[in-house]
Amino acid sequence: MKRAFSGIQPTNILHIGNYLGAIKNWVELQNDYACIFCVVDQHALTVKQDPKEFSQNILNVAKTYLAFGIDPNRSIIFRQSDVPEHTELAWYFNTITKIAELERMTQFKDKAVRHKDNINLGLFDYPVLMAADILLYDAELVPVGEDQFQHVELTRTIAERFNKLFGKTFVMPEPLVKKHGARIMGLDDPKKKMSKSAASPANYISLLDKPDVATKKIMRAVTDSGAEIKFSADRPAISNLLTIYSLLGNLEIKDIEKQYAGAGYAEFKTGLAKVVNNFLIEFQNKFLKIKDEEVKEILADGAAKAGALARKKIIDVRKKLGL
Ligand code: TYM
Repeated sequence: MKRAFSGIQPTNILHIGNYLGAIKNWVELQNDYACIFCVVDQHALTVKQDPKEFSQNILNVAKTYLAFGIDPNRSIIFRQSDVPEHTELAWYFNTITKIAELERMTQFKDKAVRHKDNINLGLFDYPVLMAADILLYDAELVPVGEDQFQHVELTRTIAERFNKLFGKTFVMPEPLVKKHGARIMGLDDPKKKMSKSAASPANYISLLDKPDVATKKIMRAVTDSGAEIKFSADRPAISNLLTIYSLLGNLEIKDIEKQYAGAGYAEFKTGLAKVVNNFLIEFQNKFLKIKDEEVKEILADGAAKAGALARKKIIDVRKKLGL
């Protein structure tokens, strides 16, 4: 069976963009791929974390995977820091990655602006660790949102370069970026992607938002000029809301447009809030039932399985390097 790998950083709270761009597709992939889903805690250290909150955030991301239907009997769920081969491989890749390649990464450029007081070496090197995550497991598919596409491209460059220099070692991974949902935009600014680290919580719907909070955010979401409920490239706000409606409500966009033909934004947003809240309530009911202890056991089991694969691979890599 072919392998798929993906991960999420345990920074703050996850939002519906993380679900629609990534986790939603992971759940389906479990049928056709041997899947590995990582909580990439070492990546998250590239921005400041409060150690106490961080430990809980790590468990919460794993709980989120489980609540959405990632099945630990079929897929490996583990924590990056439990498998030290990730950082070892990242070091080897550091020696063949060019600074100019990392300087081109848009996520680094964005984060360097937002975290001006903490532009650390880890933030710059972040994509190399991501390449190590993927290549360590010979993953052929990497299901991610659009913002990670560039990092997967760099991963391919690194794999190709290593293979050329030291002989065929790594499988070439393909990004899986879905047409819809891969770039959910901010509710307060539909020109920027929905983001965990946005300045205002009005930007995103957290997976743990209470229904009244989510409803308020939706009712206040920015809209475009013109009143029509219609998807169109030059109307990013309504198109974003329609995308969310369609994916969470399991409806075709054209059917939603038909349903709201002639209706105003208030009616449409009320309908959207209902769909979003049904989704949130179902998720939160499952999430809240999962105990920390249960997650810790699943992560330990996942670390043992991922660790066994990683150790085998790193032995090959060391040999190729002459170590
Ligand atoms: P992270 O933690 O920022 O985001 C997790 C996943 O959510 C997707 N995503 C979105 N999708 C749609 N709309 C949005 N507004 C939105 N915001 C985020 C991201 O594309 C991602 O798929 N570098 C990665 C984590 C990572 C990783 C890996 C992923 C580390 N190693 C190896 C895949 C394979 C990141 O920062 O994702």
